[in-house]
Amino acid sequence: MKIAVTSQARPRVAQPLADSGWLERVDDPAEARGHDWLLQLDRDRLALSRPGEQGKPVVVDFSEGPVGWRRARAHQERLVRACGLTRAHPPREIVDTTGGFARDTGLLTAGGARVTLLERHPLLHSLIADGVARAEPGLAQQIQLVHAEGTDWLAGRSQILDVVYMDPMFPPIRSKQALKKEQHWLRLLAGEPSAQEEHHLLTTARTHARRVVVKRPHDAQPLDGVPPHHHLPGPAVRFDVYD
Ligand SMILES: C[S@@+](CC[C@H](N)C(=O)[O-])C[C@H]1O[C@@H](n2cnc3c(N)ncnc32)[C@H](O)[C@@H]1O
Repeated sequence: MKIAVTSQARPRVAQPLADSGWLERVDDPAEARGHDWLLQLDRDRLALSRPGEQGKPVVVDFSEGPVGWRRARAHQERLVRACGLTRAHPPREIVDTTGGFARDTGLLTAGGARVTLLERHPLLHSLIADGVARAEPGLAQQIQLVHAEGTDWLAGRSQILDVVYMDPMFPPIRSKQALKKEQHWLRLLAGEPSAQEEHHLLTTARTHARRVVVKRPHDAQPLDGVPPHHHLPGPAVRFDVYD
């Protein structure tokens, strides 16, 4: 993977990405041609784009865009309810094992949770780290970001966790409907986990947590073929709950 990073953006890169050997510094974004990705600053935010592609870059920002709007009504979100976060409940500790662009963690924190957020991909981890660093202090304190492989991290826990959440990459869609840009880029960057990886992640999570919540396409088989105890259906995605 070849990632062009502008001189202004370079100091904002987190250590795992700095150590990856993927970065090449450029003085001008126009020099990014021939690279897979470009990192630059957009309104003082670390921003990801594809050299030569039009459109807005992707940033992790907990206060803006669709996530900011959904955060305002988080208690109506099925994800928040599936994780057992209600106004009546005290805040819960949730481990989000599949960070991505941290959209779901944004909803969980708005629902009152403290989230340990795991992401194994150095580029995605770096974008999240920048989003957390810019978040208002109360929100930033709710998130502990860890650059880690989810199964390994869970296997190292000695205490039973409250809730573990996972959103592994969906299987490729069959319909002609185009993937949204963020989903498409997540797929390009992180790829689909193997059946064995999914099996280990789910099994380890169920061993170490009181509740496991899995995001699935609405019409897909349950993860690893293991039926959940109940689920929250929806038009595009459903949340499978293992208690
Ligand atoms: C579909 S995306 C998750 C999107 C995320 N829920 C969001 O709201 O933006 C899956 C992400 O999980 C990460 N991932 C998948 N399996 C993982 C594992 N076992 N440990 C850590 N990260 C993992 C991938 O690198 C990818 O960034």
